[in-house]
Amino acid sequence: MNTKPKLIQVLEGQVVAPPPVWMMRQAGRHLPEYLELRARAKNFLDFCYTPSMAAEATLQPVRRYGMDAAILFADILLILDTVGLSVRFEKGVGPIVQQIDTAADLAKVTPQKAADRLSPVYETVARVKAALPDDTALIGFAGSPWTVGLYAIEGRGKTDKSLAWRWAHGKPDELANVLDLISEATAHYMAAQVEAGADALMLFDSWAEGLPNNIFREVIIAPTKKLVARLREMGVTVPIIGFPRGASAMLPEYVQETGITAVGLDTAAVPAFVNAALPAGFPVQGHLDPLLLIEGGQRLDDRVRELISAYEGRPHVFNLGHGIRPETPIAHVERVLEIIRKG
Ligand code: CP3
Repeated sequence: MNTKPKLIQVLEGQVVAPPPVWMMRQAGRHLPEYLELRARAKNFLDFCYTPSMAAEATLQPVRRYGMDAAILFADILLILDTVGLSVRFEKGVGPIVQQIDTAADLAKVTPQKAADRLSPVYETVARVKAALPDDTALIGFAGSPWTVGLYAIEGRGKTDKSLAWRWAHGKPDELANVLDLISEATAHYMAAQVEAGADALMLFDSWAEGLPNNIFREVIIAPTKKLVARLREMGVTVPIIGFPRGASAMLPEYVQETGITAVGLDTAAVPAFVNAALPAGFPVQGHLDPLLLIEGGQRLDDRVRELISAYEGRPHVFNLGHGIRPETPIAHVERVLEIIRKG
């Protein structure tokens, strides 16, 4: 009997019907059991660094919904904490990161040491792996060098991003050094997740959106290509899903150049464009609007069916186009799963 998780079959290029499904940010605030667990933690970082809690949070959506994959409960900003920048999560404000002025501000801890400091995360991976059914995949992840670097340059997420963009135009060499340092630490971090039991990896490039195409090549494509190559050189063989959110017309180049195994599509992705522009058989993941998931109703049902049929001939992992929102009704998630699995 083939117990290889459906998610892995698809990432390896097989067309599987119905498609495997999971949802970005599936572990988190839309689940009452998460809120209860979260209330017991001192703060969010502490939560992420406590394997018993992080493993429980990872497993909650799998238990409740029978998702086809679990995604490690952690955060893309942990890597900045381990290189010595302070990271805080403030209610209503989001993440606040100690700002850097130069690449040297990131170089005080070696990339290998930074990744070693994330050992509680590897313990979480091992615990989850031991608890998951064989047919459910475990996805490890990290932020891409650009998206993580942007938080260090901007100091927070909710900015117009102009500081980081100006580094890209005005201080490209300094920025390249920042991205290299983050990339090397990230490679060690992701390789260690795989060693601990992750079946696949995902690289979140949440701030890839809207970049001029020459800059997109420099800060998204080139660093992603380098990171993927570094992981392969380290002996990592698992599938790698790239998620260049908002890549738009740069999507084909990203897919062709970076060496990723599969691509995560965002809410604005256009199925006809995707199918015409990406090689036949290249696996895609996505891309239901998380806001439609909140609203529900007939339009939700219709759109789920539309996305499934749009990618019928292609390896497809059903997912959202961005993370699930805290206000999402559980019944709507259940409805989506019902349509996918029962038609
Ligand atoms: O199910 C999962 O996906 C859980 C693991 C996970 C989290 N963050 C947990 C989390 C993953 C994969 C992430 C990725 C992440 N973190 C991204 C990339 C994906 C995306 O949404 O674009 C980004 C940009 C971050 C940075 C970050 N961390 C933000 C912007 C926030 C939200 C701030 C807020 O308070 O709304 C966080 C905090 C965070 N990360 C929470 C969770 C569950 C909420 C913290 C809480 O429970 O208080």
